[in-house]
Amino acid sequence: MIQENISLKPFNTFGIEASTRYFGRFSSVEELNQILTSNKDKELLILGGGSNILLTKNFDGLTLINEIKGFEITKNDGTDVIVKSGAGEVWHEFVLKCIENNFSGVENLSLIPGSVGASPMQNIGAYGVEIKDVFESVEAYHIPTGELHTFSKEECEFGYRESVFKRKYKGQYVIIYVSYKLSLSAPKVNTSYGAIESELKEMNISTPSIKDVSQAVINIRSSKLPNPKEIGNAGSFFKNPVISKELFDKLIVEFPTIPNYPAENDGKKIAAGWLIEQCGWKGKTLGHYGVHKLQALVLVNYKGATGTEIYDLSSSIIKDVEDKFGITLEREVNIL
Ligand code: FAD
Ligand code: EPU
Repeated sequence: MIQENISLKPFNTFGIEASTRYFGRFSSVEELNQILTSNKDKELLILGGGSNILLTKNFDGLTLINEIKGFEITKNDGTDVIVKSGAGEVWHEFVLKCIENNFSGVENLSLIPGSVGASPMQNIGAYGVEIKDVFESVEAYHIPTGELHTFSKEECEFGYRESVFKRKYKGQYVIIYVSYKLSLSAPKVNTSYGAIESELKEMNISTPSIKDVSQAVINIRSSKLPNPKEIGNAGSFFKNPVISKELFDKLIVEFPTIPNYPAENDGKKIAAGWLIEQCGWKGKTLGHYGVHKLQALVLVNYKGATGTEIYDLSSSIIKDVEDKFGITLEREVNIL
């Protein structure tokens, strides 16, 4: 059933008040097809958990919430399993189910908010793992033709917080099912990210199971990222920028402690949170919104901020970082 003039506040983790002209939900491809066939003229917004979007205006089109469920093992060769999940499953619940079944590969991605369906959109990543590392394929509904297409990992063109669905095919597909290849063999835990190692030490664990790694990640995340149920936010608002070797060689002289990681073409990935903190923005509050006090990459809505206020704050941060470091930050969050 399509409803009219519905508030999207409960459907975005920033907690921004904005309305949608039309609103509906679908829990199967048939239902999606039916809705789209009779609403061909309307602009479309597909939402999962609404945890990576900033609403800066009321939406004049049709918002659909993806509720396609399912957790199915489609292949098991004794070493690996392929698990196919409905796009409308909650990502963290999917991770917990994998851990329960002793399927390893996604434990480092514990507690990332949102849906399974959005996970390939920006190739979600955390603590040394990205979904491209365990990705098998995606089934997606092509909006203009109503056909179902399957995309392999190569066809998704995953990059750091990037995929074809975020760029080249933006707005053309609805992700329906995602399949991941997970490991059944002796858990190959990935504790390369420094913070996990120190957290495991703190937990007194020397031979971690995938459940231990998941718990370590949950502990780290809970200690510095605001819970959207308490403070509106969409996680990192900006990407960590990749800069050229030339620029890095200049900056390191003036800022010797700049956190940096190797990147493609001899470049460096720089911690955007550090850049923003150096510009004095960390913990800054502008009345009812601001920059989180523990993680400068996260912009927060304490109560009642508009999407435009948050967007303008992000523009001020971009300008200050540009003026001080000559680096242009790119927004990671989808802006509507
Ligand atoms: P939504 O916000 O609902 O949608 C995001 C975009 O994808 C929109 O453009 C939407 O139209 C599109 N979309 C959603 N579902 C579909 C679909 N089925 N088909 C087609 N298009 C679709 N991200 C990370 O990568 N790593 C992190 O560590 C991380 N930490 C976070 C921490 C917090 C506290 C928060 C609030 C967010 C964090 N994020 C992180 C961002 C966010 O959790 C992810 O981007 C997540 O994948 C978004 O899922 P969602 O279902 O909420 O997407
Ligand atoms: N830092 C600061 N000040 C800050 C924040 C960070 O100096 O306010 C420094 C830290 O000291 C550290 C470095 O920045 O040296 C990295 O910090 P952290 O480990 O917290 O990770 P991040 O680079 O800030 C990225 C992702 C997160 C992901 C974590 C863990 C991006 C844009 N963000 O954050 O993803 O959870 O790593 O892997 O890549 C998201 O995408 O929404 C998100 C939360």
